[in-house]
Amino acid sequence: MNNPVQNQYNQLAKFYDSRWKDYLHNTLTFLKDWSNISPEETVLDIACGTGEFEKLILNESPTQHIVGIDFSEKMLEIAKDKCKNYSQVSFQVKSADNLPFADSSFDVIICASSFHYFDHPSAVLEEMRRVLKPNGKVIILDWCKDFLFCQILDIFLKIFDPAHQQCYTQKEFHDFLKNANFVISRSSTMRFGLSWGLMVATCNKN
Ligand SMILES: C[S@@+](CC[C@H](N)C(=O)[O-])C[C@H]1O[C@@H](n2cnc3c(N)ncnc32)[C@H](O)[C@@H]1O
Repeated sequence: MNNPVQNQYNQLAKFYDSRWKDYLHNTLTFLKDWSNISPEETVLDIACGTGEFEKLILNESPTQHIVGIDFSEKMLEIAKDKCKNYSQVSFQVKSADNLPFADSSFDVIICASSFHYFDHPSAVLEEMRRVLKPNGKVIILDWCKDFLFCQILDIFLKIFDPAHQQCYTQKEFHDFLKNANFVISRSSTMRFGLSWGLMVATCNKN
C-alpha cells in the first residue's frame, strides 16, 4: 500500500516541473555547481523525482553514469522519458531506506529537497553510507528550519498536509549526519528568493 508521500507525488507528477519550475532551476543549478561532480564518477540520486537534476548533469556530461531512485512511479515515468536517450542512466522505483545496491557502489550520492519527507532519516543515511564508496561523498540539500518562513511552513504543513514529516534546523541536520558516522566537509545555509531557506552539506565516510 502506498504511503501519503507516494500518493501525493503520484498525483503531483504531471504538474511538478511546471509548478516548481523556478524553484527547481535555482536549487538544482546551485546543487550541480556545489557538487562539482566529475564526468567519470558514478552518481546515485536519492528521491530523484522527475529527473531534473539528471537533465542538468547530462547537459554538461552526456556520458555520466547516474542511477535515480524514488518511490513515486509517476515521478519516475517522467524522469525515464527525459533521459531515454542515455543508456547509462537508469531509474528504479525504490524506497530510500532500502536501497537495492551492493555496498560501496557509488562515488557520489545526491539528495535534493527530500530529506524532510523521510519517515526514518537515520535509516536512509545508513543506507547512503553503505552504498557509498570509501572515498565517496554524499551531498544533501534540504529546506532549513533556521529560516522563519520554513518554521511557519513547517507548522502549517504539519496541520494541513498528511505527507509532511518535518523540517530540520541545520544543527538537527548535522546531528543526523554525525550520528550516521559521516564527517561534514562543507556546509552552508542560504536564502533563495525573498523568504525560502535551504541548507546543504557535503559529507564523507568517517
Ligand atoms: C520535493 S520532491 C524532490 C525531487 C527531486 N529531488 C527534485 O529536487 O526535484 C521529493 C521526492 O521525494 C520522493 N520521496 C520521498 N520520500 C521518499 C522515500 N522514502 N523513498 C524514495 N523517494 C521518496 C518523492 O516521491 C518525491 O519525488
